[in-house]
Amino acid sequence: FAAVDVIRAKRDGGRLSDEQIDWVVDGYTHGVVAEEQMAALAMAIFLRGMDSGEISRWTGAMIESGSRLSLDVSRPTVDKHSTGGVGDKITLPLAPLVAACGAAVPQLSGRGLGHTGGTLDKLESIPGWRAALSLDEISAQLDSVGAVVCAATEGLAPADKKLYALRDVTSTVESIPLIASSIMSKKIAEGASGLVLDVKAGSGAFMKTVDDARALARTLVDIGTAHGVATVALITDMNVPLGRAVGNAAEVAEAVEVLKGGGPADVVSLTVSLAREMLALAGLSSVDPAAVLASGAAYETWCRMIAAQGGDPSAALPSPSHVHVVKAPASGVLASLDAYAVGVAAWRLGAGRARKEDPVQASAGILCLAKPGERVSAGDPLLELHTDTPDAVPSALAALEGAYTVADSAPGAGPIVLGTV
Ligand code: URA
Repeated sequence: FAAVDVIRAKRDGGRLSDEQIDWVVDGYTHGVVAEEQMAALAMAIFLRGMDSGEISRWTGAMIESGSRLSLDVSRPTVDKHSTGGVGDKITLPLAPLVAACGAAVPQLSGRGLGHTGGTLDKLESIPGWRAALSLDEISAQLDSVGAVVCAATEGLAPADKKLYALRDVTSTVESIPLIASSIMSKKIAEGASGLVLDVKAGSGAFMKTVDDARALARTLVDIGTAHGVATVALITDMNVPLGRAVGNAAEVAEAVEVLKGGGPADVVSLTVSLAREMLALAGLSSVDPAAVLASGAAYETWCRMIAAQGGDPSAALPSPSHVHVVKAPASGVLASLDAYAVGVAAWRLGAGRARKEDPVQASAGILCLAKPGERVSAGDPLLELHTDTPDAVPSALAALEGAYTVADSAPGAGPIVLGTV
């Protein structure tokens, strides 16, 4: 093959053959296909799309660019992936809950980029906790604790790592075939036998509408099924931040509240809904995750999971040096609180990074003291902005301009789960 022929075929709206896909992904991984050629092909795919057979093959080729994890665990393995949202700390209570119910959860996670946070950044606010584990450590912890949340091991879908960096700088991220194959190549290579996807829809998500989220969910589920992984997807609301805490340490604190039997209703409800789906895929549908959460067993598993990775689950979390309070402009009911704006503001306060190599502030973020549907009085604190860099407050406030409204009356929160694929 020649890369120019593959690029031309897709540019002109053709279908790539299995052999062309295998060749171009392998060639790119090994430097035979140049960056500029893959950039052109990514744009052609962005504009022309791929059919489900091409997407599945592309995913397979990205998996084969590296090695699959072979997990040596006696329990059924099941994982969850979220397409990313604001305040989405669900992995933190969910992984230990599902482990406490009897399954094994190998959750290889990422760091945040842009306005959505990353699970590893959140957990790194716990003193001593370490993200990098060897394959042997992952298997041993899955057997002893049942849950591992750690960084992806070297060699897991290296083609995706290279391609994702290229897409980031060529404006070719927001393509369903490219997003879906990117997510699923890593998740399938990780080796879990079941996978539950939380596909977010709304202002704080990749997919702004429920229809787009459903299309992404359908594509993700089809790829999983084609590769022999039992896969289901929930479409969930991301117009409002999840829970009250946005930011690394604050989200860990909120997750611990949930594990101790408290926490915001939306976080508890989504955690339990996702746990039910995971347990069904693991053949454990007779176990009631709500009862296990209430029993304290999930909190106990959390403590063991954190300690196994060097963290101290009872240590105080970092607190910010500067707090700025935003007050309610009027009395009434909070009618809206825009997830995207809150995500951008938290990012500007230091919770997120602008470039991959930037550090994040553990204690930066936003506490949403009121959520839509709740009563507020003029002058009540509405949002607490946390940061170690007070110079960032004006730009965070600018991001929050128009992001919340107070009305005479407003409906309460709608359902968090909007559909299943
Ligand atoms: N997350 C991924 O892993 N890949 C994408 O392309 C988008 C989100």
